[in-house]
Amino acid sequence: MSVIITGKDSLRKLRKLLVSKFKHSKVFVLTDNNTSKQCLPVFKKHIGVLPFTEIKIKSGEQNKTLATCEIIWKALLNKNADRNTLLINLGGGTVCDIGGFAASVYKRGIAFVNIPTTLLAMTDAAIGGKTGVDFLHFKNMIGSFTQPHATVIHREFLTTLPPRHLNSGKAEILKHALIADQSLWNLIEKDFNVTEEVLKKSITVKTKITEKDFKEANYRKLLNFGHTIGHAIESYYLQNELDILHGEAVAAGIFIESCLSFKNNKLSLNEIVAIGDCVFKHFPPPHVPSLKYLEKFLLADKKNVSGKVNFTFAEQNRRSFY
Ligand SMILES: NC(=O)c1ccc[n+]([C@@H]2O[C@H](COP(=O)([O-])OP(=O)(O)OC[C@H]3O[C@@H](n4cnc5c(N)ncnc54)[C@H](O)[C@@H]3O)[C@@H](O)[C@H]2O)c1
Ligand SMILES: [Zn+2]
Repeated sequence: MSVIITGKDSLRKLRKLLVSKFKHSKVFVLTDNNTSKQCLPVFKKHIGVLPFTEIKIKSGEQNKTLATCEIIWKALLNKNADRNTLLINLGGGTVCDIGGFAASVYKRGIAFVNIPTTLLAMTDAAIGGKTGVDFLHFKNMIGSFTQPHATVIHREFLTTLPPRHLNSGKAEILKHALIADQSLWNLIEKDFNVTEEVLKKSITVKTKITEKDFKEANYRKLLNFGHTIGHAIESYYLQNELDILHGEAVAAGIFIESCLSFKNNKLSLNEIVAIGDCVFKHFPPPHVPSLKYLEKFLLADKKNVSGKVNFTFAEQNRRSFY
């Protein structure tokens, strides 16, 4: 059973769980070079004197590899980590994805806790039980569906996050609002602040959808809204050695796929105007010469079946579906 702990005293609640309930033989904390500097002191401040060993890896998607897992496994083995060991992943989606996967197979699986430190990880990557690493330049090729023992959401970490990364995470909140929660959309439409309430609602959408469909047979596909076009834009940028963050591409994808939803009578004209206003206000427009350039990337999408590109539509009347 995986718990999500939120609120100002979330780390203190984790401390209580570690002392009174989890009782692991050893605790390791996985960081990257940024979260080691920016987030570990905050973690220590709240967790107190609880003994743990830090395992530090290099930051960035280019290090989300099996080679990095080997570094983690070696560090665990060197300290005689047994099956009753706990790995705490303190970082963004990259650290949570690698740490979750490394834990899920070390000695056939040890417990792990996610403490996401980016907005994208708090609202998306650290929730839902997908773990994994990239392989031969293919994203998330090797991985597992494994739930963490707990996920701890502590907004204080966001204060050191570079503003561009903070903004990028907002795209997933916008997606959650548009696919499943009208009240969240009402909250962010005019004033897009990442309040405790906004974050909680967004996390609830991801949790409910992934609980309903853990292994992505049906409902979970809703979470792909904005991502078919978004991934094509990301691939276009990657191939042209241009810089774009995931959320920046997804925001553009959300707008374009909202237009497709409108064309398929799933959204009203007023709605796509409002979605467009929100996207253009908060996210930089990506530079793609024309949609024609995205075609080859759309045709290579993992979600395609029999050569057909699959889109997920946002439907206005589905926004209270759980
Ligand atoms: N498992 C899933 O369901 C899922 C879902 C979405 C995305 N992902 C994965 O998430 C990854 C992207 O995650 P991300 O956007 O969090 O990027 P990230 O983990 O690479 O973090 C972005 C940068 O911010 C730094 N950082 C993290 N927290 C910080 C803080 N509080 N203060 C200062 N710097 C900080 C990191 O060191 C890194 O340099 C991708 O690999 C993607 O595939 C997974
Ligand atoms: Zn995404």
